[in-house]
Amino acid sequence: MEHILDAKQFDRKTIEALCARARQHETRRIQRMKGKVMATLFYEPSTRTRFSFESAMLRLGGGVISSENAHDSSSSAKGETLEDTIRVVGGYADVIVMRHFEAGAAERAARVSPVPLINAGDGAGQHPTQALLDAYTIFRERGGIDGAHVALVGDLKHGRAARSLLAILGVFKNVTCTLVAPEALRMENDIRAYAQAQGITLLETDDLEEGIQSADVVYMTRLQKERFNTPAEYEGLKGQYILTRALVDSMKNDAIVMHPLPRVDEIDREVDTSPKARYFRQAEYGTYVRMALLEHVLR
Ligand code: NCD
Repeated sequence: MEHILDAKQFDRKTIEALCARARQHETRRIQRMKGKVMATLFYEPSTRTRFSFESAMLRLGGGVISSENAHDSSSSAKGETLEDTIRVVGGYADVIVMRHFEAGAAERAARVSPVPLINAGDGAGQHPTQALLDAYTIFRERGGIDGAHVALVGDLKHGRAARSLLAILGVFKNVTCTLVAPEALRMENDIRAYAQAQGITLLETDDLEEGIQSADVVYMTRLQKERFNTPAEYEGLKGQYILTRALVDSMKNDAIVMHPLPRVDEIDREVDTSPKARYFRQAEYGTYVRMALLEHVLR
């Protein structure tokens, strides 16, 4: 039994196999999950992650049971522990997809889960399936990841999508990453050290224009409002990085703009019509990648 908890767990071979399978799902109808049930247990808001997982299971011919607001509408509201909930839900489903507000919750849940558990985001920790679909998007939209220069922009301290993407990029060759964040929101040391040990060339700046100049992929992220200690802290940092159409036009000709979404104000709406904007396509790829991943853990 394999749980999906952390982007660091994927090796190159697995990523390439999952991407190849996702590519098949884009064009062919493959229903291998008839009679299987997936439970989605979400303790934090989600649009893309939950819907694309559910869409993936339904497209594969399986069924879905779902708690979209598990904090209030599951027995967690009555005081049940996460462990007890997982043990029970694991008796009703063949796979559990869980999002939780605490970093480390997915690992705790996996320890007691009788079925594969997929981490759909744990606090400011990890979001491994987002990293996979981000890698897939770079493959599809750019042709490959080896040799790429990726700029990660925004709230790199709390953003689990950026943390997970940096981790997964480490399996590819000659990757350069520019981390673009204000001092207070720099990427944590643990993940920076990991990326460097993996051979990624890391650059850092707090200047957006400088940070994106030579990038092939500009990965924007939102300030993670829900992770700040006080509203004042959030207000003081918000609005610092806004990717305008003029900035996008100044990027390399074949560069692309990605974003895990939701966006707040960090990408101007005028960027949406730029041929470099790929974030809506990126969101769509989520379904195909999650189809491949569900087959992988339920094989
Ligand atoms: C991200 C998340 O939840 O971590 N969203 C997503 O899954 N596509 C990014 C975010 O919320 O900013």
